[in-house]
Amino acid sequence: DHYFESEVLEKLLSDQHHRKISMEESLRIDRSFRHAAHCFICAPLNKLVLGKYPSHASVLMQLRFDGLLGFPGGIIEREEDIVCGLNRELQEEINLDLGRFMVREADHLISHVNHRHKFVFHFYSLPVTFEEFRAIEKQNLEATDYGNETLGILRVPLYTMKDGYHGLAAFLNQQFVGNAKDQLLYGLAKLKILTPEELSEAIHKSQALKL
Ligand code: GTP
Ligand code: MN
Ligand code: MN
Ligand code: MN
Ligand code: MN
Ligand code: MN
Repeated sequence: DHYFESEVLEKLLSDQHHRKISMEESLRIDRSFRHAAHCFICAPLNKLVLGKYPSHASVLMQLRFDGLLGFPGGIIEREEDIVCGLNRELQEEINLDLGRFMVREADHLISHVNHRHKFVFHFYSLPVTFEEFRAIEKQNLEATDYGNETLGILRVPLYTMKDGYHGLAAFLNQQFVGNAKDQLLYGLAKLKILTPEELSEAIHKSQALKL
């Protein structure tokens, strides 16, 4: 689809260590590979941040125990179904109310294989309303893993300030676990939260204006 025609976005599909793989192919992979699944929780939002910078969505990420940014989710146990394992991790890490929210197979966004580490990374979306997003945020403090495996959730800044750098571009210069930064950009493109032009601009500005 046209979102991935631009060279910058095409690069999100694979990097040196993470190659795009279909779900079908990943399920036939050698059993010595482990599987992990993480989730892009997002909600529509129409708000001016700081009274002037438009933001059209809220996206949730977390600070991990190692100080890196990533998405909630984790390792799928052997014999465990991928979405079941992902929902279990979401309950452990952010106290997601599984009676209300459940990631389904149809929410799959993209998967990558890392041959060096013998890992498959699956990425799913959980689109919710803004009210639901706030309810999810509020429940996080009661998560089993909060303060141990996970150090807190955050909203990705999706706006751009007048200098063209602060906001998303500056955020992209933080340190991310694995290919979580590419997963973030992919989710923003796939869910049409930002246009390819806006994403390319943020990527370029993050590199050019790195402070
Ligand atoms: P434990 O419960 O402590 O075993 O951890 P976990 O099951 O929650 O696993 P974790 O979320 O750390 O994910 C396992 C693997 O995925 C590790 O190799 C991480 O480096 C990697 N990882 C963690 N978060 C992300 C993420 O958001 N995106 C990607 N692509 N990889 C991630
Ligand atoms: Mn202040
Ligand atoms: Mn995890
Ligand atoms: Mn975990
Ligand atoms: Mn785990
Ligand atoms: Mn754990």
